[in-house]
Amino acid sequence: MVQNVAAFFRELEPEDFYLLSGIEQGMRFSEWVQREQLPKYSSLTAEEVTYRLDRCMKHELLERKTIQYEGYQLTFEGYDALALRSFAERETVDGVGAPLGVGKESDVYEAMSFQPLALKYHREGITNFREVTREREYTADHNHVSWLYTARKAAEAEYDALETLYPDVSVPRPVDQNRHAIVMEKLDGGELSRVRLESEQVVGVLDLVLEELTAAYHAGFVHADLSEYNVFIDESGVTIFDWPQAVPTDHDNAGELLARDLTNIYRYFRRKYPSETPESANIEALSDAIASNDLESIRSYCSS
Ligand SMILES: Nc1ncnc2c1ncn2[C@@H]1O[C@H](COP(=O)(O)OP(=O)(O)O)[C@@H](O)[C@H]1O
Ligand SMILES: [Mg+2]
Repeated sequence: MVQNVAAFFRELEPEDFYLLSGIEQGMRFSEWVQREQLPKYSSLTAEEVTYRLDRCMKHELLERKTIQYEGYQLTFEGYDALALRSFAERETVDGVGAPLGVGKESDVYEAMSFQPLALKYHREGITNFREVTREREYTADHNHVSWLYTARKAAEAEYDALETLYPDVSVPRPVDQNRHAIVMEKLDGGELSRVRLESEQVVGVLDLVLEELTAAYHAGFVHADLSEYNVFIDESGVTIFDWPQAVPTDHDNAGELLARDLTNIYRYFRRKYPSETPESANIEALSDAIASNDLESIRSYCSS
């Protein structure tokens, strides 16, 4: 797991950030940024670079590698620190607290502000990136797609979806985005996967999930990674989160992905609540009902 940079964030000095953002710039051109180029990228003197490299290496914000030359790149912690600094400067975030969840492709922390928020660092590309590095160990680094890029694109896509969907769809309120990170409303309640519904609540909750999917569809998005792990539930209802891979409704695969989302959630309900969940799912009919905004059919489907 990636360590929480908030633990030592306040010890970092402005010049440490010059070095980090200099290396970030250099990484647009090569995976490992040449040591000799660092004064230029960071606007620091050579001595200052040496001193700052030491500090940043100690905090594991950077990684070093000697191939044909001595090169540096940001670690995820280094990238996290840069994003957190932007949020702090913009006064979006005053402090970072406990982890809220470690997902497949993210680390999520509680963030403090005028209200409790959630800070999600995207980690897409990290596994992929490790494989790529191994393969390319001794080769030139042109054509590489850096994990910075992959993770940033994911954060941008998720933020974009949240901004479009909120408040018509029950999703976390988007607050800010920088690099591979987003700040959003902190959700109360718990993941659907961890909650045990009462018998009489089951069809109602299934219906709520389907209604949110319908609203999202008509706002322009299919979630495309729906599961019991991406739905929060509390007394006020359900909230659907984790949207980086959402696809526009007019995308070629939108229909297929909607059907897959429906199948996933339906199977989950069938498995966990076999006697309360309608026995046979006609996913095709349900997809059609969603596409034509036919809430009546969805409701009657859930209660049949
Ligand atoms: N806004 C939020 N409020 C509270 N907890 C959250 C929030 N967003 C995510 N989490 C927690 O973090 C976990 C991972 O987040 P998620 O967006 O699902 O990322 P991943 O793509 O890695 O699955 C979630 O399962 C959830 O427990
Ligand atoms: Mg998730």
